[in-house]
Amino acid sequence: MSNASLQSKRIIITVGPTREAIDPVRFISNHSTGKMGYAIAEYLYSIGADVHVISGPVHIKTTLPANAITNVITADEMLAVTQALGADADVIIFSAAVADYKCAAIASQKIKKQEGALHISLVPNADIAFELSKTKKPRQIFVGFALETENGLTNAIGKMQRKKFDFVVLNIQDNGGSGFGFDTNKVKLIDSDLSITDWMLKSKKDVAVDIVNHLAVMMPLPVVADTRKISYV
Ligand code: CTP
Repeated sequence: MSNASLQSKRIIITVGPTREAIDPVRFISNHSTGKMGYAIAEYLYSIGADVHVISGPVHIKTTLPANAITNVITADEMLAVTQALGADADVIIFSAAVADYKCAAIASQKIKKQEGALHISLVPNADIAFELSKTKKPRQIFVGFALETENGLTNAIGKMQRKKFDFVVLNIQDNGGSGFGFDTNKVKLIDSDLSITDWMLKSKKDVAVDIVNHLAVMMPLPVVADTRKISYV
C-alpha cells in the first residue's frame, strides 16, 4: 500500500480527553488515554505527513517533535485551536473524547463537604467536529470516531452524516481488550457509502496503520512536476 498521497499533507488530529473544572482541585473528564490518536499521529509523521496533534491531558511518551503538538485542557480550548489550525488542513481526524458538558460556573474556592446531596449545574460544550463541519471545504477529508455501548452502527452512521465525516471508526467497547486504556483495539470502519470494514482485535499501532492506509486511498496523489527537458527538432 502506498502512502505517497499523504506526504506533506497538513493533517490535524484531536486526541485524548478534555477536562472541565468544577473548582480549583476537581474536574470532570473521561477514561480516554489518547493511545489510539497518538498511534495514528506517530504513523502519519513516520510516512512524511505534516501532522499536528491537538492534545487533551494524557500521559504518553511520544516520538513526535514538541512543535507538532498543541496541549489543551478544556473543550473550549480544543475548539479554538482546531478552528485556528483546521482551516488550512487537508485532513482533520477527530479522535478526542471531548467532554460533552462543562460546569455552568467554576467555583473559585474548593467546594467544602456538606450535608446531603451536592448539585452541579452542567451546560453543553460545543461539538468541535460539528462546528468544523459548517466550514468544511470540498477538498478536505474529515475522519471521525464513535465509541458506543449500544446501537453502535446506527449511532456511528448518524454521527458521520451529522458531522460530515468521510468515514467513521466505530470503537467496540468491551472488556476483552478493546477500548479505553488497552493497547489493543477492535474497530469497524464505516464509509460514507455505508460500506463496512470489520477488523479483528489488533494492537492500536496496527489499527493506526489500517486507518492511515484507508485515508491514503481517498487522497489525490500529489502532482509531480515533470523536470525532463523537452527538445524540439
Ligand atoms: N466530538 C467532537 N466534539 C464534541 C463531541 C464529539 O469533536 N464535543 C467528535 C469526537 O472526537 C468523535 C465524534 O465527534 O470523532 C463522536 O464523538 P462521540 O463522543 O462518540 O459522540 P457525541 O457526538 O458526543 O455523542 P454521544 O456522546 O451522545 O454518543
